[in-house]
Amino acid sequence: MSSQHYFEAQPLAAHRPGLVRVVLPDVYLELDTDSGVFSPGRLDPGTRLLLEEAPGPPASGDILDLGCGYGPIACVLAARSPGVTVWAVDVNERALGLCARNARKAGLDNIRCVVPDAPEIPRHFAGIWSNPPVRIGKAALHDLLLSWLARLTPGAPGAPGAPGAPGAPGANRSAGPLKVTRGAAPVSERRGDYDCPFLSHPRSSLR
Ligand SMILES: C[S@@+](CC[C@H](N)C(=O)[O-])C[C@H]1O[C@@H](n2cnc3c(N)ncnc32)[C@H](O)[C@@H]1O
Repeated sequence: MSSQHYFEAQPLAAHRPGLVRVVLPDVYLELDTDSGVFSPGRLDPGTRLLLEEAPGPPASGDILDLGCGYGPIACVLAARSPGVTVWAVDVNERALGLCARNARKAGLDNIRCVVPDAPEIPRHFAGIWSNPPVRIGKAALHDLLLSWLARLTPGAPGAPGAPGAPGAPGANRSAGPLKVTRGAAPVSERRGDYDCPFLSHPRSSLR
């Protein structure tokens, strides 16, 4: 891609259509990509890790893919749980367009692709999945994640005040803003600080 970041609102890079095949044990998707969006040439390894190892979505309710890009996480979550509404949020309009097109192509009518300040976004989410935009910088990333975590359904792990939530007693903030764990094994351990997928969901625990 050009010298621009993948999180520009309107990427200037000339269009270069591509295709990424998402091959998982339970889901197969062919997703359109383009220049000017994150990882247009392959499913990002961090995204793959999240999709392979993080707990699945609930059966219903509103869930968030924060920084959806061309839509691999949103589309897989939507395919895994037709009863949920996936709010696919991004600042990059080219990415949002691709995500919406990919949802349509895959016949997934339970994805809403919107900018972060869209008024229709629900106040609360039953879970949040993200391969977060680490390139925006640690402080900005931390603020971004905390602002969306505040919209988790009260009581969900990771919601403000919940055990292990950022800022809660004993919460580990030294290695990055958040870590996703599954059982006893931190998913993020294999990826390193800030280079980890992020998830907050009632069936996961944050450290
Ligand atoms: C690491 S990429 C992940 C993209 C996609 N989910 C994937 O797994 O391929 C992070 C995404 O976050 C988006 N982003 C950056 N800043 C954001 C913000 N403030 N709010 C929402 N999304 C943002 C970027 O445009 C980018 O698409």
